[in-house]
Amino acid sequence: MRNPFHMHEIPVDAPFCNRETELRELLSYAESRANVVLYSPRRFGKTSLVRRVQHALEENGAVTIFADLFGVASVEDVAARLAKAVFQVTHKREAFWKRALQAIRSFRPILKPDAEGGLSLSVEPSSPSVTGIDLLEETLESLGTFVEKTDVLVHVALDEFQEIVVLREALRVEAALRGRFQRQQASFFFVGSRRRVLLGIFNDRQRPFFQSAINYPLPLLPFEQLVDFLNERFAAGGKPCGRDLSRRMAETVGCHPYYSQKLAFLIFASCDTVTEQAIAAGFGKLLASERPVFEAIIQGLSLHQRLLLRAIAMEPTDKPLAGAYLQRHRLSSVGGVQHSLKQLAELDLIEKPDRWRVVDPLFTCWIRDQLEKTL
Ligand SMILES: Nc1ncnc2c1ncn2[C@@H]1O[C@H](COP(=O)(O)OP(=O)(O)OP(=O)(O)O)[C@@H](O)[C@H]1O
Ligand SMILES: [Mg+2]
Repeated sequence: MRNPFHMHEIPVDAPFCNRETELRELLSYAESRANVVLYSPRRFGKTSLVRRVQHALEENGAVTIFADLFGVASVEDVAARLAKAVFQVTHKREAFWKRALQAIRSFRPILKPDAEGGLSLSVEPSSPSVTGIDLLEETLESLGTFVEKTDVLVHVALDEFQEIVVLREALRVEAALRGRFQRQQASFFFVGSRRRVLLGIFNDRQRPFFQSAINYPLPLLPFEQLVDFLNERFAAGGKPCGRDLSRRMAETVGCHPYYSQKLAFLIFASCDTVTEQAIAAGFGKLLASERPVFEAIIQGLSLHQRLLLRAIAMEPTDKPLAGAYLQRHRLSSVGGVQHSLKQLAELDLIEKPDRWRVVDPLFTCWIRDQLEKTL
């Protein structure tokens, strides 16, 4: 029986839980050519949602450009990804392809047959002497020309937008992007999960993007809708589980979109009938499968950050600087804790709605489990 859940990226036509309001609002913003900052903790479904918004826009005739800025290493890289995204979306649409070729002057597309019998697209700069900010400026100007010459809505999504802050010339990049985007009759969505960093770009008076977009937080999935979704999907897959067990699954992962989907996938794959035991076993598998991700996060932290993260996972607190807390968790100086708090928050690993806690509910369980096993 085919698994009705998805382990990997969810296709745009696969059943999606809830998000009707978000889809409607985001579509409306895009159509009014507004700019939006879409943010949430990791794996809440931002990219999937934007893909759906763009899919709906395309069905209404728009041209939708999607550039992922994850891991950008230079200004040239940002420019190349933008240019590539324009060519990628237009090369299947004759009329727009010609316009893109005329408009995008800074890069030229290279099409090569790929292993699956299709074509792979890459880009190379048209003139090797234009580099850095100049290349980005030229690409943005080209994008502007493309938007101008296109008589339908152009929508641009920049995923993992906060990555631009790691560039040496970050402020100049922000200024260049802001200056050009402002003049274009397109709608831009800036998407990301490092909330502090991303919101810093848009809500700091000193920065070029200050108040230039609508802040749009994406929340967890609503409990009852998630229960309906799980219930329906298990029934559609031929393994009806009922609302009580669906509730148990939703509670187990705290309505987290990605973990709900993955937990359900693992449960469906390994049992004929859903039971409490099958849910517990599925949760064990989920924790085990996320282990490499969690270990990689821990490895990227300093010893002090690890200690503080552990303390907050074990004991969320609104007073991390209190003497008793420091002592209980063997944290050294107040200054050290302040520093690590800031860094962990910038990495979006911890947050403070009312008290400091670890953002990811599964990561919290995993840290607690690890400690129980080792201490
Ligand atoms: N509304 C939803 N209904 C069902 N599944 C969902 C929903 N939202 C997200 N998911 C699941 O979560 C997965 C991760 O979503 P996605 O990659 O869109 O999140 P993201 O917020 O962009 O993550 P990241 O912060 O890591 O970039 C999807 O592939 C899908 O399996
Ligand atoms: Mg994403």
